[in-house]
Amino acid sequence: MSSLVLLLTIPLGLNLAALITTANDQFIYSGFSGSNLAVDDTATVTPDGLLELTNGTAYQKGHAFHPAPFRLRDSTASGNGKVRSFSVAFVFGIVSVYPDFSAHGMAFVMAPRRNFSDALPAKYLGLTNVHNDGNASNNIFAVELDTIQSVEFKDINANHVGIDINGLQSLRSYNAGYYDDKSGEFRSMKLISREAMQVWIDYHGERKEINVTLAPFDMAKPARPLLSASYDLSTVLTELVYLGFSAATGRVNSRHFVLGWSLGVSTEAPAIDMAKLPKLPRVGPKPRSKVFDIVLPIVTATFVLGLGGIIILVMRRRSRYTELREDWEVEFGPHRFLYKDLFRATEGFKDKHLLGAGGFGRVYRGVLETSKLEVAVKRVSHESRQGMREFIAEITSIGRIRHRNLVELLGYCRRKGELLLVYAYMPNGSLDKHLYNTREGQPTLNWALRFQIVNDVASGLLYLHQRWEKVVIHRDIKASNVLLDKDMNGQLGDFGLARLYDHGADSQTTHVVGTMGYLAPELIRTGRVSPLTDMFAFGIFLLEVACGQKPIKENAQGGQIALVDWVLEHWRDGTLMETVDARLQGGFDIHQAGLVLTLGLMCSHPLASARPAIGQVMRYLAGVTPLPELTPTDVLTLMQNKGFDESAMSYPDLVSSFGTISTLSGGR
Ligand SMILES: Nc1ncnc2c1ncn2[C@@H]1O[C@H](COP(=O)(O)OP(=O)(O)OP(=O)(O)O)[C@@H](O)[C@H]1O
Ligand SMILES: *[C@@H]1O[C@H](CO)[C@@H](O)[C@H](O)[C@H]1NC(C)=O
Ligand SMILES: *[C@@H]1O[C@H](CO)[C@@H](O)[C@H](O)[C@H]1NC(C)=O
Ligand SMILES: *[C@@H]1O[C@H](CO)[C@@H](O)[C@H](O)[C@H]1NC(C)=O
Ligand SMILES: *[C@@H]1O[C@H](CO)[C@@H](O)[C@H](O)[C@H]1NC(C)=O
Repeated sequence: MSSLVLLLTIPLGLNLAALITTANDQFIYSGFSGSNLAVDDTATVTPDGLLELTNGTAYQKGHAFHPAPFRLRDSTASGNGKVRSFSVAFVFGIVSVYPDFSAHGMAFVMAPRRNFSDALPAKYLGLTNVHNDGNASNNIFAVELDTIQSVEFKDINANHVGIDINGLQSLRSYNAGYYDDKSGEFRSMKLISREAMQVWIDYHGERKEINVTLAPFDMAKPARPLLSASYDLSTVLTELVYLGFSAATGRVNSRHFVLGWSLGVSTEAPAIDMAKLPKLPRVGPKPRSKVFDIVLPIVTATFVLGLGGIIILVMRRRSRYTELREDWEVEFGPHRFLYKDLFRATEGFKDKHLLGAGGFGRVYRGVLETSKLEVAVKRVSHESRQGMREFIAEITSIGRIRHRNLVELLGYCRRKGELLLVYAYMPNGSLDKHLYNTREGQPTLNWALRFQIVNDVASGLLYLHQRWEKVVIHRDIKASNVLLDKDMNGQLGDFGLARLYDHGADSQTTHVVGTMGYLAPELIRTGRVSPLTDMFAFGIFLLEVACGQKPIKENAQGGQIALVDWVLEHWRDGTLMETVDARLQGGFDIHQAGLVLTLGLMCSHPLASARPAIGQVMRYLAGVTPLPELTPTDVLTLMQNKGFDESAMSYPDLVSSFGTISTLSGGR
């Protein structure tokens, strides 16, 4: 059914030399059966001819390249070695596990090599890594179909198309969609809709112009491109160029497919025959039996059909609200929310209610219909049932905790592959937004508020560690997990959630859960959490609030440096106060700032035993106990042990959020 046609057409011309070098190269794949694409990692050609780039396993990447490289440069005297015009068309489909969440995206790639073993999955899309992203020596041109918003790459949203040169920060990007030929209106499309779609990439060698166009599967190429950029690809592409695709998954898995592909150099890409393409795999239930559709109308009158219609409607409605409920959950009954209520509270999880997305999933604002209570609903995608019971038990027991500096967990709800956690709504959002995303004209968080919030978080943590009926370890203390109520009081949120991902599939794997930059060294080594690993993260958090900088900051050379090392260098040089957030313009209490910074250093001590416990920290903060001087030996140990583990740095998602490291430090 699928076929591969490789065309090499030589146009009639006068000059023989020109004939060969400007030969119009074309190829077309209508399905990939029998093709000899060079594939690696998870990429494979399925028996029915689909090119499957990722296979539904988390943290994977896959590539597929046309086996031979192309000579795209015009080597005639008049051509000056410029990259010739070319055009590419391909049909793709992203089959995600969840209807509204997918990872991470895919890209069409032109590169000097087809060995991408050094590239990372997740937000790097299998194209680059922490060290080489954006480096001009990559010589990569790519068009990304990105389904997760990566703030580091200044992504506009979680559903966009972008033109990438040498790195993942796009030269140009726009919402996925197309401009209607008749009305000229923009119609948006959802990349992860599990539907096939077509992309056209056109480059004009003379005008140095790149156009990218997207359209639904069955639609002709729209006249107006989605993206248009001026860029001289002669400055990017090498003499010989490999053409192909890359795709990657992160914590969430998805399957990325290419159905057909064509190329034309110095000519249009041949049109892909849609009728010949293989079909995307279906997800979800099988369609109703044909017998039901054909026989029923013949034998019964129309009202029976009407009745059938009503039944289907009711069933649809039901399945829309279907929950997962097991026997053991009875005891947690009072904490259980009806999915229907949460669905209504958030108007069907509409985007306009989206508060933000974190490593665990998306958070929506909602108002419960009956109580009119404002809530934040966190949707956590979670497939494995393993450990769920323990987790729910823990979550609900934690749910009984009431403290003014801990975000109240109101309850939970479970659906297939998904857990919904319902929290009290915090009108002022998370602290990181106030520290980093200050909009033009918005004042920075003043020192008094910062000091107040530090005290709030400390007393929340004291409660978890020492005052409640059992010791609760937070596991993920960081600025984005500190939420601010209507009076700007700090409340610690998300406690215990990291536990959900804590169950290793086998005893050989140590799962370290937390956020890069806040992970204590012994936690990375042993995977074991303790109140002191929380204290480490708390120390980093203190530095973050005082300095207004992320735990891993850019140094003057554009490289990355741990905030703790930077503060420490200033401490050693006697210029500690220079690390206080410059945006405060000197408006801070020197004594308090010194206290917070020094405590930050003490808590982020690489030796767990040297860190103070939270009760001690509270006494220092309150001025009950004077702060001890850091001794030169302390400083020496601090300086020798960098604040974070270098090997963890190369692991993709951890740099920005929560993640799992498997046997990362096994050999250490
Ligand atoms: N209870 C809440 N009230 C108001 N906004 C909230 C609440 N909980 C979360 N948010 C918002 O939703 C965003 C995402 O939260 P979430 O906790 O999922 O992500 P995160 O803390 O950035 O990352 P991680 O999942 O790794 O902890 C937060 O940045 C915050 O702005
Ligand atoms: C996907 O590919 C990876 C790497 O080749 C492999 O380890 C994994 O088992 C595959 N998963 C499935 C579901 O086929
Ligand atoms: C790809 O490159 C890596 C080193 O960068 C090398 O170890 C590996 O063998 C290469 N793979 C192939 C298939 O050439
Ligand atoms: C870019 O990569 C080259 C070759 O790998 C390397 O020598 C150079 O230092 C890199 N440049 C930057 C800015 O990282
Ligand atoms: C890009 O699109 C513009 C606008 O439709 C068009 O004028 C131009 O010819 C296109 N360029 C290429 C290289 O297709």
